[in-house]
Amino acid sequence: MNKDEFLSEYAVDRRNTCCVKWDDLKESFGEDGLLPFWIADTEFKIPKQAQKALEERVKHGVFGYSLTPKEYYEAYMNWQKKRYGTELHQEWMRFGSGVVQSISTFVQILTQPGDSVMILQPVYNPFAEVVKNTGRRLVVSELKNENEVYSLDLADMERKIGEENVKLLIFCSPHNPVGRVWSAEELEEMLELCRNKQVRVIFDEIHHDLIVGKKPFVSGLSIRDGYYRDNLVVLDSTSKTFNMAAFDNSHVIVPNPQIMRKYDRFVEMQKTPNGNLLGKVAGEAAYRNGEEWLEGLLEVVRSNYAYVKEQLRSAFPEIICSELEGTYLMWINLEPVVSSADVEDVIKRDAKLAVDFGDWFGKGGAGHIRFNLATTPENVKKATEAMISAIRRYKQQ
Ligand SMILES: Cc1ncc(COP(=O)(O)O)c(C=O)c1O
Repeated sequence: MNKDEFLSEYAVDRRNTCCVKWDDLKESFGEDGLLPFWIADTEFKIPKQAQKALEERVKHGVFGYSLTPKEYYEAYMNWQKKRYGTELHQEWMRFGSGVVQSISTFVQILTQPGDSVMILQPVYNPFAEVVKNTGRRLVVSELKNENEVYSLDLADMERKIGEENVKLLIFCSPHNPVGRVWSAEELEEMLELCRNKQVRVIFDEIHHDLIVGKKPFVSGLSIRDGYYRDNLVVLDSTSKTFNMAAFDNSHVIVPNPQIMRKYDRFVEMQKTPNGNLLGKVAGEAAYRNGEEWLEGLLEVVRSNYAYVKEQLRSAFPEIICSELEGTYLMWINLEPVVSSADVEDVIKRDAKLAVDFGDWFGKGGAGHIRFNLATTPENVKKATEAMISAIRRYKQQ
């Protein structure tokens, strides 16, 4: 599906639908009336086949205790195999109510209170929150940043793993917010280091279907034909791919049977939720029929990215936009034109935009903004113009 067909069929006004992005601005940003480009969901309806499957299920009218349909596993495993070559088995799979919930579960299963857990900043901020809230020690390795091209700092990771006795790494692949799709070589080096140092790895692969650049996505499960899979767990969901966050239905993938036994015991003890029936109904239909829809979404994201990058570059050649390999979240370094202390003032108070500010993502984030491209070109144009005018006014002061 091309971008124009996608936009005319799926773009929708979400205001006044209890939607966090538009209807929670006052609470989250202190003022209404901002144009929102923050939280990672989209302005687009789910694939029409998924909508239809939901309508049919809703017509039945009964929502008692439910099982995961066998067909769901089949649809998801086929999608993963066909698109990425990732081999899965049903016995490796469980469900959660969200990726962050499952990260918290695995931090508690794979480490003890007081143990050190590493994250690679700048990174999605709940990683740090989960580590701290579960009483673990947060160890941060900063990604290397050469002119907004990010890479893993393996030497720094190795040193800190040794010095801080790190037991677990929470790894984001593709990486939110810097937009990297990690190559098989990068993943192998990182996994080899972790295996040698007996560091388990939680792979958060929630953005893995949102591949915008030329680099293919490779799951941690596939590296060296699965050589490292006993040492890792993978978390994923329909929420980013198909805009289904409100369904609270996420995937937990654990190839190591010992870890799976611990997981099952923990879930039994805590009585944690096990996904959601409507999420599974919609998800199954989307995995079966949603490929065209996804191609349409990715075209919109590519086109919006090219527009923002071009406009910013021609107004201020010093601004650096990271290459968007994956996710629909654009990472922009404004520091060459706006001092990091003033970014919020310029973007929120003057341009009237609600974005994620870089320092929310920890070390290496200051001076940046994360701008959500999964919206209409009209919204993107308004925001880009507002941003450029506000920066011009700032520079003239
Ligand atoms: C890397 C990453 N992990 C997890 C989440 C949230 O997932 P969930 O809503 O399933 O907890 C997000 C949402 O933006 C994310 O970017």
